[in-house]
Amino acid sequence: MSATSGIETVGTITELRRRLEAERATGRTVGFVPTMGYLHDGHASLMRAAAAENDVVVSSIFVNPLQFAADEDLDDYPRDIERDTALAEANGVRLLFVPSVTEMYPRGPVDTVVAVPELARRWEGATRPTHFDGVATVVSKLFNISGACRAYFGEKDYQQLQIIRRMVDDLSIPVEVKGCPIVREADGVAMSSRNSYLTPEQRAAAPVLRRALDAGVAAVADGQADPTAVIRTMADVVAAEPLAALDYAAVVDPATLAAPATIDGEVRLLIAAQIGRPRLIDNAGATMETPVPAPDAGGTGLSVEDPR
Ligand code: PAJ
Repeated sequence: MSATSGIETVGTITELRRRLEAERATGRTVGFVPTMGYLHDGHASLMRAAAAENDVVVSSIFVNPLQFAADEDLDDYPRDIERDTALAEANGVRLLFVPSVTEMYPRGPVDTVVAVPELARRWEGATRPTHFDGVATVVSKLFNISGACRAYFGEKDYQQLQIIRRMVDDLSIPVEVKGCPIVREADGVAMSSRNSYLTPEQRAAAPVLRRALDAGVAAVADGQADPTAVIRTMADVVAAEPLAALDYAAVVDPATLAAPATIDGEVRLLIAAQIGRPRLIDNAGATMETPVPAPDAGGTGLSVEDPR
């Protein structure tokens, strides 16, 4: 299936199932990219990855009310379906699933909730306690509807990616979850639909998150094994930017998202800060190189501790 073969928009679960069952019946693989729309090159990178590895790519645009708290931006979330359709088509999407809220939740609020509480309670979950239940519930529903072979998520939302991986594992959902690298603007700011909320002055301050992560990554690479010191390094960078208010800076285990007592090997650095209206999040991998034992200089083949 090529990028020039056209895109079709589907609004109902029945129709999407019918289309994708027909594709799978002929042995085609289905790649899936769930989104909330207002697409940018971060989303496009997931679509291109899906197009490279699957015969048919389906993407969804659904601003999921379940994952927004009452005081969040559900009603103002940016939308531009025409632009999104063109971007999806140009990046290899064949079917665009754009359901209404009543199509997805015909009985109103769902009674069944998919929760991954241990991974969801920290970091983003601390300020958004119901958010990840909403994400896990809608993503499992979308997996059930699409029957996708592979699904593509950005490392931009690192905690979300780990939650989806764990959910798929725990519930034996037959989909392969693929994590894709963060796509950034030229000045290092991670692309995000919510960057559109920033005033020009706030936008100019936004690279501070990436600078803080860079400082943290450098500290770990230089051998800083104390997570508190790395967190302080990141916090100091943010504190120097008057328009940014740090929410959290964290050093976490890449899979469990728990905070280690000391850094040893690979960790993930997470950061969240309020800049004007939006809370911006970003993250980066950091590695403490384990020192390679020095080769035996004496040429005897015996170490100091050798009993011979
Ligand atoms: P949304 O914020 O639209 O993001 C959709 C996907 O794009 C997510 O997997 C996200 O991590 C990825 N993405 C966003 N910005 C990115 C960037 N700069 N680089 C790489 N990937 C990026 O995340 C959601 O929607 C929703 O929670 C959803 C999973 C669709 C469930 O409603």
